[in-house]
Amino acid sequence: MERLQKVIAQSGITSRRKAEELIKDGKVKVNGKIVTELGTKVNEKDAIEVNDKLIYKEEKEYYLINKPRGVITSTSDDKNRKIITELIQTESRIYPVGRLDYDTTGALLLTNDGEFSNIMMHPKNKIDKVYLAKIKGIIKGEQIEKLKAGVIVDNEKLQASRVKLKKVNPEKNTSMVEITIHEGRNHQVKRMFESVGFPVEKLTRERIGIFNIQDLKSGEYRKLTPKEVAIVYSLKK
Ligand code: URA
Repeated sequence: MERLQKVIAQSGITSRRKAEELIKDGKVKVNGKIVTELGTKVNEKDAIEVNDKLIYKEEKEYYLINKPRGVITSTSDDKNRKIITELIQTESRIYPVGRLDYDTTGALLLTNDGEFSNIMMHPKNKIDKVYLAKIKGIIKGEQIEKLKAGVIVDNEKLQASRVKLKKVNPEKNTSMVEITIHEGRNHQVKRMFESVGFPVEKLTRERIGIFNIQDLKSGEYRKLTPKEVAIVYSLKK
C-alpha cells in the first residue's frame, strides 16, 4: 500500500506537491469515488483517475552511461546545449542521479526511481564516487593529507575519503590523482584541488558505488540489472 499522492507523482504526470493540491481540490478518484484525504493508501489494483483520466504506474528504469564531455547533466537547457537524457532512448521520464559538470566525463546513473536516486546521493550511505583528476602541478604528500583531513571552501568542509597519486609528468608539470568522495557538492573535486593550489585540467568519474565505466565507451550506456538495483536498495542506512 502506498500513499495516493506518491503514486500520482510516480506516474510521472506531476509533482507530489501538485498531486496533493489535486487531491484536496477533488480532482482525484479512486475506484470511481472522489477522494480528498491526503495520505489515502492505495494498492496496485486500485484504479486512480486524475481529472477523469486513468493513470498508470511508470515502470522503473535504470541506466549507467559513460557521459561524454560537452553534455549537460540535466533534463533541459535554456542555452540549447546537448543534454544527457537525449543520449538515452526511452519514453520514460528519467533524470540524472546527481550531476557531472559540462566538461566532466564518466559514470553517471539515470533513473525515474526517486528512492534509488536518494540512496545513491545521500552522504549517510557513504557511496564512493571515485574520480580521476589530471591536475596542473606536481602534488605532494602534504597536500594529499590536507584533502583527506578536509578543506574549508566557501564555508563548506570538503573531504576526501581516499586520495591516491597515480602518476606525475614532470615535463608537462601535471599529476594524475584518484580521489574518492562521498558527497556530491557542486564542483566539489575541482574546488578541493583548487583550494590546495592545483587547478583541475581534466576530470573523469571512474566509479559510483558498484558501477564503473570500464566496459562503456564515451556515450555508451547500459541498463542496470535487477540484481544491481537490489544491491543499491540494500545499501540504504
Ligand atoms: N566534482 C567536480 O568538480 N565536478 C564534477 O563534475 C564532479 C565532481
